Amino acid sequence: MSEHTTNHHSAEEHPKGKKREMSRRQFLNYTLGGTGGFLIGIPLVWNLRFAIDPLLQPSASSNYVKTVEESTITSTPTSVKFTISQVDGWYYSEPKMEAWVARGADGQIYALSPTCKHLGCTVNWAPEGHSNEFFCPCHGARYTVDGKELAVASAPLDEYDVQVKDGYVYIGPLKANSRV
Ligand code: FES
Repeated sequence: MSEHTTNHHSAEEHPKGKKREMSRRQFLNYTLGGTGGFLIGIPLVWNLRFAIDPLLQPSASSNYVKTVEESTITSTPTSVKFTISQVDGWYYSEPKMEAWVARGADGQIYALSPTCKHLGCTVNWAPEGHSNEFFCPCHGARYTVDGKELAVASAPLDEYDVQVKDGYVYIGPLKANSRV
C-alpha cells in the first residue's frame, strides 16, 4: 500500500517536474542568450563607434599653430620649431616641425620648409661658407632666401601657409612655393 502510494506519487510528479524543468531550461536559454548577446553587442557597438569615429572627425592637420611674435621676425630667416596635431585615419600623432620664417621685401611674413627638395635632408640658413643662402649639407643643394633652387635640387623649398593675428605668426599647412 505504501509502495503503491509512493509509485503513484512519482507518476504524478514526473510530468509536473518535467514541465518545470523545460520551463527552467527555456528561462536559462533566454537569460544566457540575452546576456551573451549583451556581452557581445556592447563591444561590437563600441568598436564600431571607435572604427568610424576618426572618419567623422575633421582633420586637425589643417589647423594653424601659433608660434612667435610678429615683431621678432626680420628679413633674416629664423628657425621656428612648433608641434602639430595630426590625425591620420586611426593614428594620432604630434610631430615636431620646423620652419624658416622671414619677412620679405614686400613686408609679408613667410615660412619655408627646411626639407631639401633633392632627397629630403634638412637645410640651414647661411652656414659657414654659404652666406645669404640656404644650404643642404648632404649633397650641397643651395637655395635663395625665398627658397628658389640654385644648385643640385630641381625645385624650390616648399612654403607654409602663414597668418598673422594679434601680433603672432600662425603657421598652417604646407603648399608649393609661391614666392619664386
Ligand atoms: S638631400 Fe639636400 S642636397 Fe641632397
